[in-house]
Amino acid sequence: MRSARPEDAPRIAEIYNQGIEDRVATFETQPRDPADVAAWFDEELPFIVAERDGAVVGFARVSPYSDRCVYEGVGDHGVYVAREARGSGVGRDLLDTLAFAAASVRLYKLTARILADNAASLAVHRAAGFREVGVQRRHGRLDGEWKDVVIVELLLGEAAEG
Ligand SMILES: CC(C)(COP(=O)(O)OP(=O)(O)OC[C@H]1O[C@@H](n2cnc3c(N)ncnc32)[C@H](O)[C@@H]1OP(=O)(O)O)[C@@H](O)C(=O)NCCC(=O)NCCS
Repeated sequence: MRSARPEDAPRIAEIYNQGIEDRVATFETQPRDPADVAAWFDEELPFIVAERDGAVVGFARVSPYSDRCVYEGVGDHGVYVAREARGSGVGRDLLDTLAFAAASVRLYKLTARILADNAASLAVHRAAGFREVGVQRRHGRLDGEWKDVVIVELLLGEAAEG
């Protein structure tokens, strides 16, 4: 696990686009190019990659949850593992590392909306200690079909105590 670097952008775009193609990870349907990924670095929030045998096989990142200052300690997040590396613990390691990095920059919560039929993502978040807050029904359409989402959250640092 290490921080993402700008030169990782093409591989990160490739892994993200696999998630888009699989149609279980996100409501996004337009593939991203490396320039889109390069813009993610401007957010200056935790952005981690997993390497195996010198190649990037996954990434996780925090993006802003809200532009309201009261929520500046809350981060939205995503985690994506290359198809060939899924199911071998990379996603879990990425989430653990991202949570540590987020707490280190004084974020007090990570949260995400997961498509309710994304069993792998629900499982990896559960394994990493995330709580399932509830289901939002018909939160968006993917290829014209209504999808429910599950909100998950993990408290960090002081917020996680007591
Ligand atoms: C979701 C994703 C990140 C999980 O990463 P991964 O590296 O495959 O998951 P891991 O191998 O770390 O598995 C972690 C836990 O989830 C479980 N799990 C993984 N895939 C699963 C599946 N398809 N069904 C049920 N459980 C699954 C594992 O058994 C493990 O549980 P355990 O710790 O209790 O044994 C990965 O499958 C992926 O990139 N999918 C496409 C993109 C995506 O959906 N991203 C999430 C967007 S919110």
